[in-house]
Amino acid sequence: MTSHPYIRPRRLRTTPAMRRLVAQTSLEPRHLVLPMFVADGLDEPQPISSMPGVVQHTLDSLRAAAAEAVSSGVGGLMLFGVPRAEDKDATGSGADDPEGILNRGLRALRDEFGDSTVLMADTCLDEFTDHGHCGVLDHSGRVDNDASLDRYVSMALAQANAGAHLLGPSGMMDGQVGVIRDALDDAGHTDTGILAYTAKYASAFYGPFREAVGSTLQGDRRTYQQDPANRDEAMRELELDLAEGADIVMVKPAMSYLDIVRDVANATDAPIAAYQISGEYSMITAAAERGWIDRDAAIMESVTSIRRAGASIVLTYWATEVAQRLG
Ligand code: PBG
Repeated sequence: MTSHPYIRPRRLRTTPAMRRLVAQTSLEPRHLVLPMFVADGLDEPQPISSMPGVVQHTLDSLRAAAAEAVSSGVGGLMLFGVPRAEDKDATGSGADDPEGILNRGLRALRDEFGDSTVLMADTCLDEFTDHGHCGVLDHSGRVDNDASLDRYVSMALAQANAGAHLLGPSGMMDGQVGVIRDALDDAGHTDTGILAYTAKYASAFYGPFREAVGSTLQGDRRTYQQDPANRDEAMRELELDLAEGADIVMVKPAMSYLDIVRDVANATDAPIAAYQISGEYSMITAAAERGWIDRDAAIMESVTSIRRAGASIVLTYWATEVAQRLG
């Protein structure tokens, strides 16, 4: 005689209605943020070959894609600027130029959508520097932390003036949140928030993004982004960002760092964002193109798992599509 289990977890998995009833993690359009690229000097949107389905936008196509995203109900838009190659320089002057492409894009979106969506800006120099680093270099070619902070302050003010609701300092310079907060407050931008890239790792999965923004990076970012081997360091970065005035804290990438998302969620009541980055998008897209995985199921599973790990907000290149699917 075999003994039979009298507790049967499978009972709660029997029907779609039963599974829906007990599902612990929910996904709603408002949880999703769409990262977008706006490029200078384009006549029409430019596909990004390593990210099939994602484009560098013109100002017109940016407005149209943003309108589609907003009407799908996404929680916000995160904008990146792609200047013309000849406009890049050592200090990234296109970043704080009010006529730089990112600031023009921000103004266009704020004019169009007002406060009906949350407009976020990447506050980082790498798209604008000719060497491709997130800061300015000192005489020996190292990224100079404090000189970079001065540039971030100027960039942040330009972005706040252009209409961004949230600034996303992503350069991993020490003190970046604090100096930006001070500068915003001094300029009267007390309502402009900071979505801090708190735990940003030096990841191989950013590869396709570098094509997306036409990056010219020489070397790597290991002297400022976190070592993938480190877990506790994220807690230290979290304490600093909160003390410096971060409104929302972000972990990036997402899928290889779900343990960090959970650590951060356990450690703070501040809203937590996680960024499902370019390489995560491209891996799923490429495997699906080969017929190796079910694309739609993999997208939903990956985004849901990031929510389950503890992120309230998920930045994903599938934001509009997922929001539309959720209805
Ligand atoms: C830096 C920045 C990067 C990404 C977002 N902000 C690139 C990097 O740090 O190398 C990556 C986003 C992605 O891969 O989707 N401005």
